[in-house]
Amino acid sequence: MILSIESSCDDSSIAITRVEDAKLLYHKKISQELIHSKYGGVVPELAARLHATALPKILEEAKGYFEDLKAIAVTNEPGLSVTLVEGVTMAKALGLSLKLPVLPINHLLGHIYSLFIEDEVIFPIDVLLVSGGHTQVLHVEGYDKVEILATTLDDSFGESFDKVSKMLGFGYPGGPAIQECASKGDDRAMAYTVPLSNSPKIAFSYSGLKNQVRLSILEQESLSEQAKADISASFQRVAVEHLMQKLKKIYKNKDVKNFGVVGGASANLHLRSKLEQFCKEKKSTLHVAQLKYCSDNAAMIGRCAIDALEMYKLC
Ligand code: KG4
Ligand code: ZN
Repeated sequence: MILSIESSCDDSSIAITRVEDAKLLYHKKISQELIHSKYGGVVPELAARLHATALPKILEEAKGYFEDLKAIAVTNEPGLSVTLVEGVTMAKALGLSLKLPVLPINHLLGHIYSLFIEDEVIFPIDVLLVSGGHTQVLHVEGYDKVEILATTLDDSFGESFDKVSKMLGFGYPGGPAIQECASKGDDRAMAYTVPLSNSPKIAFSYSGLKNQVRLSILEQESLSEQAKADISASFQRVAVEHLMQKLKKIYKNKDVKNFGVVGGASANLHLRSKLEQFCKEKKSTLHVAQLKYCSDNAAMIGRCAIDALEMYKLC
């Protein structure tokens, strides 16, 4: 079995995955969202201190599996350095005391494997990764064969939801709050323009859209609940439209058999419905992770670590 640890941002999580059939045997996550909510975003030092108490608490529960372990896997990048180090330190200590190899796992690769926690691994697959830190389109041939087809020039898709949420006085994370508020609004009420829509660039940009929302809020004397809903709905429509315009450009003359969407923001229902439409037109199969595996978790790190074990020839 593999014990995996995730602490790249504000979720402390540990999982146990069986190597022979990739079955997830144990998975626990303690989220810090409520604590960071009042600050409108994750406070790194506070997050690190919370990991320092949450991770040992979860590890205590997983102790029963120790004697069956083959390796320890841990997210080592990318993420907040002060929170990553909490997980990495725990992994190294466990590796030393239990005499086991420690596998460093890339967090973004982990998100890709969230598609395969309860399903067969499918390669090649093209993936849209939308999280709080990244917005990328990837062509994935295997564990160590990932090509970046497009990435963001500035902010990420998820981060723009967090910032708009903060501007409207909602908490963190912003994605679910904006999605909920948008359901009561008119998505054509605000005339936000789609970023880079006239540019041939295959890239994403969210800083300008964020600023359009900021300026539209400043123009109003006070914000009614309906105005907030209209802003949320219009912003969400344009943010998703930007992704869809660039995806259509990337795949204009290219077939794609399997297409996946991963990362915390892949939970967005408007995005999912637009992707379903896109995949139908392209005659592609759309792969989505279960909602519980979209945001950061150790189950995806454990699933990815099984392929890492093979790659490092440790099994
Ligand atoms: O993957 P994740 O848990 O953490 C990172 O690796 O960044 O993603 C968190 C991000 C946050 O920005 C959050 O607002 C966003 O995912 N998110 C959403 C939704 N649910 C979470 N964004 C849009 N719509 C949602 N329903
Ligand atoms: Zn993530």
